[in-house]
Amino acid sequence: MIDLEALQAQFYERFGEGEAPRVFFSPGRVNLIGEHIDYHGGLVLPCGIDRGTALMIRPSGDGTTKLASTNFDLIAILSAEQCRKKLGEYWVNYPLGALSKLREVQADLGAFECLFSGDIPNGTGLSSSASVLVVMAYAVNELAGLGLSRLGLVRLAQAAENDFVGLQCGIMDQFAVTMAEPQHAMLLDCQSLQYEQQPLQLGEYCLLIANSGQRRELAESGYNERYAESNAALDRLRLAASREINCLTDLSSQEFEALAAALVDEPVLAARARHVIEENERVKRAANVLQAGDLQAFGVLMSESHASLRDLYAVSTTAIDALVEESMAVPGVLGSRITGAGFGGCTVSLLRRDAVDTFCEQVSERYRARTGLEAEFLVVEPSRGVHEVQL
Ligand code: GLA
Repeated sequence: MIDLEALQAQFYERFGEGEAPRVFFSPGRVNLIGEHIDYHGGLVLPCGIDRGTALMIRPSGDGTTKLASTNFDLIAILSAEQCRKKLGEYWVNYPLGALSKLREVQADLGAFECLFSGDIPNGTGLSSSASVLVVMAYAVNELAGLGLSRLGLVRLAQAAENDFVGLQCGIMDQFAVTMAEPQHAMLLDCQSLQYEQQPLQLGEYCLLIANSGQRRELAESGYNERYAESNAALDRLRLAASREINCLTDLSSQEFEALAAALVDEPVLAARARHVIEENERVKRAANVLQAGDLQAFGVLMSESHASLRDLYAVSTTAIDALVEESMAVPGVLGSRITGAGFGGCTVSLLRRDAVDTFCEQVSERYRARTGLEAEFLVVEPSRGVHEVQL
């Protein structure tokens, strides 16, 4: 938990006494299944987690926007003009991205003093970036009275990440951290943006995130490359198909088999497309078994999802595969998979609550022996989306 009183004291220390700041909080998210699907218009099943980003914010008295964080050393003090440009590869690009898109809604937004504090491990697949972007967009929407809806903010935050930060991400993360409800996961159709909150009745089971300790830099990783490869596969399949296809997830796996000849000379592209099409179908099955309370079946689908991300979409790593294998070796674990963009980061496992201690001990030891890396574990509770907090 972030200590908001201590944060308020820090806020006054940095920015001086005066008007009390307002406080906002956005969670991170964990995606339970449906990976690398959102930018192909398919189904995903994420939930908010009880870790996230707090933002203390008030209008700035001197016309400059000040961005500070308890997590990073860099403090930015920027004129309105400087706020329009990306600042190297620093964390401030997320709040700056939000401001730049909000300015398209209202040119004269004013300037703000902002102190962020997060307890999501950064760059590990738990949407620390969407959490920062969304909390900033939500807070400024409130302070400036812009009247944007939650869905408007989701779209704005995604556009900021695409256009300002420069990552071709889909809409899942921004959607999840904005719309999350406690004790629910959301089944989101990334094409229509229709969604359904599904109760996550885990009973004696829980969700455990294992941070592999292998850091991933999303914007510099293979994410944009996978985006390009899978879209190249889509272009080929479109030419071969006898009906119009908007996106890869418009195809069933049977239709894909029938079109296989179109990609016979491109095995890598074929593998990328196969992952997307099969994973999308897995999400449908996962939502059904979850509704029926069949956690065993859900666990099996999680593990199948991991295998597909490893073998077909190639976004896992040797260390993450070791982490998943060691996780599955613990009695009481129903399923385990890499979560988020991949190339390092975290896994999510579904396991009995009474197996958590054994899990942490055994996995930590065996994972260290196999990879030399230290894993970190957190049990997460499905939590509420972005909101204002009363101190
Ligand atoms: C990142 C992106 C999301 C999504 C996942 C992979 O988190 O921001 O849009 O594509 O990777 O499922």
